Amino acid sequence: MQLKDIRALVASDLAAVDAEIRRQLASDVALVNQVGDYIVGGGGKRLRPLLVLLAARAAGATDSAHVPAAALIEFIHTATLLHDDVVDDSARRRGRETANEAFGNPASVLVGDFLYSRAFQMMATLDSAAVIRVMADATNTIAAGEVMQLMNSGDPDTTEIRYMDVIYRKTARLFEAGARIAAIVAKAPAPVEAALARFGRHLGIAFQLVDDALDYQGDSGELGKNVGDDLAEGKPTLPLIHALAHADVDAAALIRSAIEQGGTELQAPIIAAVENSGGLEYTAQLAEREAKKAESVLAQLPASPYRDALAGLARFAVNRTS
Ligand code: IPE
Ligand code: IPE
Ligand code: MG
Ligand code: MG
Repeated sequence: MQLKDIRALVASDLAAVDAEIRRQLASDVALVNQVGDYIVGGGGKRLRPLLVLLAARAAGATDSAHVPAAALIEFIHTATLLHDDVVDDSARRRGRETANEAFGNPASVLVGDFLYSRAFQMMATLDSAAVIRVMADATNTIAAGEVMQLMNSGDPDTTEIRYMDVIYRKTARLFEAGARIAAIVAKAPAPVEAALARFGRHLGIAFQLVDDALDYQGDSGELGKNVGDDLAEGKPTLPLIHALAHADVDAAALIRSAIEQGGTELQAPIIAAVENSGGLEYTAQLAEREAKKAESVLAQLPASPYRDALAGLARFAVNRTS
């Protein structure tokens, strides 16, 4: 099942989400509109809203309460991207210059805050204390995850366990929360809610593992963002952590100093060490394991085309090149 087939299944819901995103972007402050339109206009895969819509439909939703839920998850995601690109000093996103590159760091940070708080306004209109609780906890965890990653940055002794903790918090937690609030707004029974949340968690971990592998082997044009950013920042992601543990003494010394110092010099031998150590295969294997876990959780949901599409989403997370 291709991503376009998955999208086609919920095409009218997706169109409604898009309209809601556009409507909620509006502000009486010109720069908010400008930066908001810029980052949203870049498109993006809209994977998280897609997850929310499919999860709600798989849970038996018959109305469209999941549309604002899907839109607000995308708002939070977009806010974290605006902030993340400032923190990571990234220059490209969604096939164009990052907002920080085009408008500067202050505008990116502040419009990120606008999108974040707008998401909470949207949440409030859902009139569900459960949704607010899930999202308050999730956003707090994401923020802590990004801080934890900042602490790991430049530290060659970062362990695989610490890395896995970071990616759960910074990325998977939003997928998990999205799937869970989909179940809540669809008034699904507790076991269905729990299953969808677990699906989201494993999907999100797989997605970030692949993202970190693609930062070494992906194509910038296809991804719409620059590859090599993680190494340039001295970010110890799994491909590098694995390489450091398995490389020979000379390569290991090179990797340690690259993590400590960051920078773009001597990238070629380090990328070679990552490849030779099997760091990319290892990362892909772990992603595959997570995707399999996500798929197996789906057995707890009633059979439906939406459930099949969720399985397709897990396949996309591991097979993607963009
Ligand atoms: C990028 O997410 C940030 C990560 C968690 C890796 P996406 O790859 O889903 O970004 P867009 O929305 O498609 O641009
Ligand atoms: C993004 O992580 C996670 C969040 C936005 C919270 P990355 O820094 O790995 O994502 P990219 O590579 O910039 O998209
Ligand atoms: Mg980044
Ligand atoms: Mg990345």
